Amino acid sequence: MSKNIIVAIDGYSSCGKSTLAKALAKKLHFIYVDSGAMYRAVALYFLRNNINSTDHAQIEEALKNIHLNFHSRDYETHITLNDEEVSEEIRLMPVSEKVSEVSALREVRREMVKQQQRMGKSKNIVMDGRDIGTAVFPDAPVKLFMTADPKIRAERRYKEIHVKNPEITLEEIFENLAHRDYADTTRTESPLVRADDAIILDNTNLTPEQQLQFALDKVEPLLKA
Ligand code: DC
Repeated sequence: MSKNIIVAIDGYSSCGKSTLAKALAKKLHFIYVDSGAMYRAVALYFLRNNINSTDHAQIEEALKNIHLNFHSRDYETHITLNDEEVSEEIRLMPVSEKVSEVSALREVRREMVKQQQRMGKSKNIVMDGRDIGTAVFPDAPVKLFMTADPKIRAERRYKEIHVKNPEITLEEIFENLAHRDYADTTRTESPLVRADDAIILDNTNLTPEQQLQFALDKVEPLLKA
């Protein structure tokens, strides 16, 4: 096989990155990797085990005891933390509130980036996250940077999680997104920034089909090359 193709999709929280990444991977038969799920699973471990985010020795020790695996059955994210399926639990509010703190830790990022780079060694993949086009795969041939109006993003997220979590309010979601945007863009370690060569995709007024077509137009020429 010629050199594998990596599609890096970065952007703000709840911008539709994973929807696009999954659709693209499905269409092209690429592997889909949700890097945010990895940080969420680490945050869940930290919560459950009361890991102190200022204690570097404890963090290193925790990372040695965290084993993450993806099981990609249907282009949905199925992730296990030490062999336990945690795909649903990592989407709940306690994890969403903890994950910014945990994903800002240097030791955590170093380990996750290492694992992500390994996944992109030989296979065609679509990976979404915050630093995929900058830190994980700076040489990725296709980089998209997604953005959308914050109110629209909060509404989309609300619709998505309100079913399972009816007591949550739109305001809480809006606050959580604003907090995560701030934390993601201002942290010292690999802050969320657009790579110079990333193409901006503002999907405020785009349907999922239009976004998929936009991405396909960037990737398909590489498959023919
Ligand atoms: O994409 P998401 O909302 O599931 O990501 C959860 C958190 O993980 C998000 O607040 C930022 C962090 N994250 C990160 O720092 N780097 C990545 N590559 C992916 C996610």
